[in-house]
Amino acid sequence: MKKLGPGSDLHTLNVLRQLPVKHFDVIVDAGCGRGRQTMVLARDLGSRVHAVDSYEPFLNDLMQMSRAAGLEHLIQSHCISMNDIPSVFPHIDLLWSEGAAYNIGFPNALATWASAINKGGFAVVSELSWVREDIPDAVREFFSSGYPDMRSFQQNVAVARNAGYRVLSTYGLPDDTWVTDYYDILEPRAKTLIDHADSSVRDFALETIKEIEIFKRSEGSYAYVFYVLQRV
Ligand SMILES: C[S@@+](CC[C@H](N)C(=O)[O-])C[C@H]1O[C@@H](n2cnc3c(N)ncnc32)[C@H](O)[C@@H]1O
Repeated sequence: MKKLGPGSDLHTLNVLRQLPVKHFDVIVDAGCGRGRQTMVLARDLGSRVHAVDSYEPFLNDLMQMSRAAGLEHLIQSHCISMNDIPSVFPHIDLLWSEGAAYNIGFPNALATWASAINKGGFAVVSELSWVREDIPDAVREFFSSGYPDMRSFQQNVAVARNAGYRVLSTYGLPDDTWVTDYYDILEPRAKTLIDHADSSVRDFALETIKEIEIFKRSEGSYAYVFYVLQRV
């Protein structure tokens, strides 16, 4: 799949436009996956983007796609952990991360990257967040085991401030970005796998179907929110 989470090129660009500057010397895309957003950043900014992921096959796909798009001179891949970004990139001007920071914990990710972002530099990080207080019981229950660390939008703003950032703006992805090119591909695939011989495949398929059912019943209680931050 081109998209490994909700999001779209249009929304990546909308968030990028919220930054007060357009030129960055050192840009790092943390947890880039197959690099949908990496290519958007490289094309729009016309600057080199360092694409970081710990899964090499995704990086290989990204480099293949960037060659096909004529962007290979602007994208450099690094198969490293997001935790190790400060030792490899000690002076970052823009740290971008879509749908990936949770893998090392959102508070830990912001604190770890803060040490490598230049004073006045930027971090743009998306995170699954509660955006309403009124959460349907089934939805709360699903995430209490699926993502027990999930915080409210206000709590994440406080996390960002505590980690040494000024919160410039926030941007919630609309519901259709979960569906287009993501759940509308995942759902039929998962349904074909519920009788698979391998129980781990069956379990994953069932979990995916459950997640999509919960999304349909979410009543707007959660969203992927971009936190647009400046290092103080
Ligand atoms: C949900 S995908 C999001 C990918 C991409 N940003 C997107 O939105 O399409 C999360 C990515 O984080 C990567 N990842 C997970 N843990 C990581 C770690 N500790 N260091 C670097 N990358 C990691 C995974 O390999 C995966 O590509």
